[in-house]
Amino acid sequence: MDKTARLIIDGTTYELPVITGTEGDRAIDVSKLREKAGIITFDPGFANTGVCRSSITFLDGEQGILRHRGIPIEQLAEHSTFVETSYLLIEGDLPTKDVLENISELLNEHSLVHEDMLDFFEHYPPRSHPMGILSSMVNTLRAFYPELRERDREEEMRLTFTRLLSKLRTLAAASYRISRGHRVVYPRHDLKYCANFLNMMFDSPVKPYVIHPDVARALEVFWILHADHEQNCSTAAVRLVGSAGANVYAAVSAGISALWGRFHGGANQAVVEMLQEIYNEGGDVQPFIDRAKAKNDPYRLMGFGHRIYKTYDPRVPIMEKTCDRLLASLKRQDPLLDIAQRLREAAEKDPYFSDHGLYVNVDFYAGIVLRAIGIPLEMFPVMFAIGRLPGWISQWKESLDDPQRKLYRPRQVYTGLFERNYVPIDERGKKMREWA
Ligand code: ACO
Repeated sequence: MDKTARLIIDGTTYELPVITGTEGDRAIDVSKLREKAGIITFDPGFANTGVCRSSITFLDGEQGILRHRGIPIEQLAEHSTFVETSYLLIEGDLPTKDVLENISELLNEHSLVHEDMLDFFEHYPPRSHPMGILSSMVNTLRAFYPELRERDREEEMRLTFTRLLSKLRTLAAASYRISRGHRVVYPRHDLKYCANFLNMMFDSPVKPYVIHPDVARALEVFWILHADHEQNCSTAAVRLVGSAGANVYAAVSAGISALWGRFHGGANQAVVEMLQEIYNEGGDVQPFIDRAKAKNDPYRLMGFGHRIYKTYDPRVPIMEKTCDRLLASLKRQDPLLDIAQRLREAAEKDPYFSDHGLYVNVDFYAGIVLRAIGIPLEMFPVMFAIGRLPGWISQWKESLDDPQRKLYRPRQVYTGLFERNYVPIDERGKKMREWA
């Protein structure tokens, strides 16, 4: 296989090394191109740029493959738990029974947050979005748990990661409770990770929450499906902030902020809002498809399209099955699921979507699963954030250990004015004065 690429610029040939990954994916190393040829590569949105070598997640967007540390997502969703998958991502291999029990114990031990942190929640305006609160609270955690300099690095890291994994869940549930004016429910020692979260969300002194095993399993699968997705927008944000030497709390907080956007983690909320709008307008999906196709309309079908997948997202059939199983087990019907199925069928028949490589993504059924669990709409992106946390941690850790680690600092092609002189204030044009 070719190990060198040749690039000819103004008659001069430059040889650039080609890097090959374990699954055969290839990249031209342009890191020395500017040094050698005085030219940079241009790639808005980094759509064709690899920024690191990573051994965490393999994703093939053409064939619809997703594997974590080599294990297919289908097997993890079928057999694993969220805690086990988190360990796999962060530590690189599946834990033994003893290790897993130990982790569960540690997650329980660290699940409480400092009481003073709960006071902070009280001062957010009532309509604050939980993603904004969560992002701030993760940064606040750093003030309560500064890095433990006296411990060796491995132990310090493990403790910090355990805290984050355990407390993000507690903070998320607390933010929901406080936003509803309800008392905070503390974590319970006897409950597993997912069941504990559900209990913190929904338990009430007048109506004790009964944990339905199928609901807890659906949440488990939802979180496993979101656990990592290589260099996506929020993970890139985590790595970027981390590359400046910022601590892991700051990096994760940046990841939550990136995930908040409706083109990324906010999409699960946006899908349900879109389905609700179709439902409210009588259930006809065609006008929404027509709008999404119209050249001059920025409207998009939420839950469709993906930067990497140009075929089916392998998480979709798992999420769809989870959705069907959960609704059947709860003996519930969701009219939004019927709308979703009709929208998907209509889009699949329309050549616009296949021509543009647009298929449903993981968010398409995720919102319906969350609705069935009882999660309120504004909490949907928070649920994604809890799920993505092990991915962010493992990617941050990997970047820290990377011998080629560098400060993220992209270049640009400048398109502004040529050099000009500073104009004294009295000599500036009328147009400028209109702004005064
Ligand atoms: N509906 C209609 N048309 C779309 C959609 C959509 N959902 N997504 C992309 N397109 C069209 C664009 O209009 C564009 O058309 P054109 O070439 O005729 O102008 C073409 O497809 C390419 O669009 P880009 O924005 O360049 O594609 P990109 O790969 O950057 O977009 C993205 C990926 C942001 C996910 C996009 O598909 C989108 O906005 N989807 C809706 C939001 C969503 O579901 N996000 C969740 C993503 S998965 C995740 O984060 C877990």
